[in-house]
Amino acid sequence: MADQFFITRAVLTGTGAYLPEQILTNEDMAKRVDTSDEWIVERTGIKQRHFAGPHETTAFMGAQAGRQALEKAGLAPESLGAIIVATSTPDQMFPATAVRIQAALGANNAFGFDLSAACSGFVYGLSVADAMLRAGQVKNVLVIGSEVFSRLLNFEDRATCVLFGDGAGAVLLEAREVEKSGPGLLSTHLYADGALGDILYVDCGTDDNRTPGHLVMHGREVFRHAVNLLAGAVNDALAENNLTAAAIDLLVPHQANKRIIDGVGKKLGLPAERVVITVQKHANTSAASIPLALAEAVQDGRAVPGKLLLLEALGGGLTWGSALLRL
Ligand code: ACO
Repeated sequence: MADQFFITRAVLTGTGAYLPEQILTNEDMAKRVDTSDEWIVERTGIKQRHFAGPHETTAFMGAQAGRQALEKAGLAPESLGAIIVATSTPDQMFPATAVRIQAALGANNAFGFDLSAACSGFVYGLSVADAMLRAGQVKNVLVIGSEVFSRLLNFEDRATCVLFGDGAGAVLLEAREVEKSGPGLLSTHLYADGALGDILYVDCGTDDNRTPGHLVMHGREVFRHAVNLLAGAVNDALAENNLTAAAIDLLVPHQANKRIIDGVGKKLGLPAERVVITVQKHANTSAASIPLALAEAVQDGRAVPGKLLLLEALGGGLTWGSALLRL
């Protein structure tokens, strides 16, 4: 009888973060390209970004963040079941960044794979981990977002090179039997529209028409789609859980642009203190941005047990999605 009140959920038990040592302010960028602190702040809210040094690869940063999440959760690396790394900037085509990280952590019993969904990668990763945990395939999953976009930036394109930064964030999710009102991932919603693939992409790959290695973004087009698509993803999350925006304790959005974040926050009617914003310090770290923001909110005491968090992201693909998580 009691069973009906309990449910298997993916519960967040640890967070971790890693940011490269080198910080570049907008003034530093202005020495490199024709831009200004005023233009960048007004259009994006960004004040500075971290750029990885040679040793700070996607795998290195991801392992640092992942190790921290394991330590916070008190889980030994050998007890880890799986590692999912959301990244669009893997160290190599293969092996997957996830298995490099598996080796670095000594997580000898874990399997791992990379997941490519650009800036939505972390939300996609949560969704895959959630399904694996609820199906009983593994007992715990480390979901990492790690990116070195600085290595793909075209410094001839001032409208994109000022927007991105590097870093890694991680969460440990563990399968737990909880009460329905208890903690865990309540839902994830994923979306894609490949017809919009050419408004945001990286021009390298195995397609022989490509010239290697830059991120290309038609910023206005991306902006035009972002707020409405994200609002749709967020509303679907609320509707599925019979909630209104008033129930959200913290919005933890992908950190691409403060104007997009403010737009979604406004549509939801959320006051500024209920929106986690790190874009001013980190710029857009793609799949790493949500776990970095989450780790910060945990660290500073805003994200504590019992709080209801709404995560949302949109990125190249286009891909977008939302996740509702009770801590
Ligand atoms: N510094 C100074 N001036 C600049 C810069 C710069 N860094 N970049 C562009 N400009 C100039 C342009 O040359 C143009 O000048 P002009 O009017 O004399 O021709 C003017 O600023 C306006 O250029 P736009 O590109 O039209 O600028 P816009 O107002 O659209 O802002 C921006 C550009 C910030 C990229 C905006 O479109 C945006 O935020 N888009 C969303 C992008 C985004 O958030 N992407 C992330 C989501 S997906 C992901 O995370 C990968």
